Amino acid sequence: MRFDTPATVNPIDQLKVVGQPIERIDGPRKVTGTATYAYEWHDSKLNTTYGFIVGAGIAKGRIVAMDLAAAKAAPGVVTIVTAENAGKLGKGDFLAATLLGGPAIQHYHQAIALVVADSFEQARAAAQLVRVEYAEEQGAFDLTVAKRTAGPVGSGSADSSIGDFDRAYGDADVSLDETYTTPDQAHAMMEPHATLALWEGNNLTLWTSQQMINWGIRDLTKILDMPEENLRLVSPFIGGGFGGKATVAADAILAALGARAAGRPVKVAQTRTLMFNNTTHRPATIQRIRLGARRDGKITAIGHESWSGNIAKGLPENAVMQTRLLYAGANRMTALRLGVLDLPEGSSMRAPGEASGMMALEIAMDEMAEKLGIDPIDFRVINDTQVDPENADRPFSRRQLTECLRTGAEKFGWANRKPRPGQHRDGRWLIGMGVASAIRGDGSRDSAARVRLDSEGVVTVETDMTDIGTGSYTIIGQTAAEMMGLPMSMVAVSLGDSRFPRGAGSAGQRGANSSTSGVYAACMKLREAVVEKLGLNVRDARFADGHVISGDRRIPLAEAARDGSIVAEDMIVFGKLGETYEQQTFGAQFAEVAIDPYTAEIRVRRMLAVCAAGRIINPRTARSQVIGAMTMGVGAALMEDLVVDKRRGFFVNHDLAGYEVPVHADIPNQDVIFLDETDEMSSPMKAKGVSELGLTGVGASIANAVYNATGVRVRQYPVTIDKLLQQLPEVD
Ligand code: MOS
Repeated sequence: MRFDTPATVNPIDQLKVVGQPIERIDGPRKVTGTATYAYEWHDSKLNTTYGFIVGAGIAKGRIVAMDLAAAKAAPGVVTIVTAENAGKLGKGDFLAATLLGGPAIQHYHQAIALVVADSFEQARAAAQLVRVEYAEEQGAFDLTVAKRTAGPVGSGSADSSIGDFDRAYGDADVSLDETYTTPDQAHAMMEPHATLALWEGNNLTLWTSQQMINWGIRDLTKILDMPEENLRLVSPFIGGGFGGKATVAADAILAALGARAAGRPVKVAQTRTLMFNNTTHRPATIQRIRLGARRDGKITAIGHESWSGNIAKGLPENAVMQTRLLYAGANRMTALRLGVLDLPEGSSMRAPGEASGMMALEIAMDEMAEKLGIDPIDFRVINDTQVDPENADRPFSRRQLTECLRTGAEKFGWANRKPRPGQHRDGRWLIGMGVASAIRGDGSRDSAARVRLDSEGVVTVETDMTDIGTGSYTIIGQTAAEMMGLPMSMVAVSLGDSRFPRGAGSAGQRGANSSTSGVYAACMKLREAVVEKLGLNVRDARFADGHVISGDRRIPLAEAARDGSIVAEDMIVFGKLGETYEQQTFGAQFAEVAIDPYTAEIRVRRMLAVCAAGRIINPRTARSQVIGAMTMGVGAALMEDLVVDKRRGFFVNHDLAGYEVPVHADIPNQDVIFLDETDEMSSPMKAKGVSELGLTGVGASIANAVYNATGVRVRQYPVTIDKLLQQLPEVD
């Protein structure tokens, strides 16, 4: 089914099941331990071995020699895979770093060997016996240094320039020129990257933890030089990914190579201490923002430049993307600069681009509002736009930014905020409120599904779409139930297997809208097949209460499959509506903080997100997504910081003791409001993504609240006690 004209009324609009706050259908399996995660696949007949990855001890240079003798002689060792014996490996499309290093080393802890043994403990013990001699080279690890020679990046994310920025900025009544920094961050998902690999002749099956089955398959065909039909990826349950599991990682490649060498299945998990340097991370940024405005608050000039680093052939963090879209202003410029660093590869992490960019832009907006003497919400509303600021002929499909800000202001009690910082006390605490806009792109991706009606009247959906903890199972089930006129108890959903039709996968907050639209398309075909089978009139047939109703006939749905299951398969193919209309999701993010005026301890007290993100397919799972994102935003604002050892080139705090993320005790009262919205341009579901939207804006809302509480403006994330302590106001 093509989607290239705006959606009209369709069966989803009944909202009997879609739009309802249905509990996760995979919940019981998760809490009873029967949802199988990658490392948990077990079959005692398989005689599985265990692999332990050896990571490089240098960041840049070459392996001169590897002495494997002691490791090979250790108890239980079956084989050791290195670049020397692995054969030639190709390269996938998504990542720049190779997943098995040697002799050249591209980054610290790059996998250089897999020790395979009968037990995990034996593999781990033997791995300690591998001796490696390196020729170490001096690497580049400091972004502030790399910034000096950083250059423009290739096309696709080219610099933008509209009007005459320099002149408008120079002529502005009020102007701001500030630089902000965000640190390297880790996905730090709960479930480590893990894979079980099994060869059967030329066929390879990987039970692995993978957000994008199709990217994983694509990259595996290239890395292992294998035809797609010989590959199978199975990833039905995933304990978080955030972009870090977008494609196959070292565990998958090494498990495959290890299993081939061992002649037995191999199970490999990346240890927590390896993951931080041997998978991807969100790259640090340095961002310069210049704003010029008239006294009445109209922005006349808006400029945003961002510098980030990556390994050779790696991509920049596109932190300026949202600045091209968020606020009006006739004169504008953005620039992305990329420096080469020899740190681990930077790549997608939840809301890549906007998450970092909004942390800077939305502090700048707060600072500018203060300079203008305008309330920060009013300042944003004054500069709202219904068309792409770079192209007035291109409207937004649906944009309710002002409504989000106004709704949030009322619900959060924004009127109680004291505009002058440091004026609000609660006992000893200094209290502050902050606000930020939220924006995140809403792309779509073609997505296929297969649906089967059986003689019991149960409809089973199959697609290789994944559920990374987001609720995909549930919303896909809701879509099928709505389309076929069934209760949730009569639908079954199978996900995350490359043998199923290609789904959108989980990335870029496209998954929910795209994959349910694929299910919609398949169900449309199934409805046609059912109506035909029952000899009913396609024009007036309705599916409701487990029946098909046409004229004066009312036939149980199961009747259609009495002689055998009916199967239908289709793919939603998205046309050009995404080009004609700028499709984005919008929100407003509010935070209230309390700061101890003597110790600078920072407590987040209240948070509110207001989201305008199309139809909300399931308000319960969507709310969970936003609350999870807000929690991640607290981490970005106050805690998360991969500390770079600038002499040796690695992330020092490479475990969950040193890399701090919020725990329950850090998280206050959080609330989420979804504006009632549909977007006819997005899909037949009229839905959009919501998960990554929930992160953009959070960091700045907290930084702005800290400023409102204390009068201390921190422009270097994370906002930590040491950055506040010396400057706190005198208090009684
Ligand atoms: Mo996301 S960073 O697109 O998984």
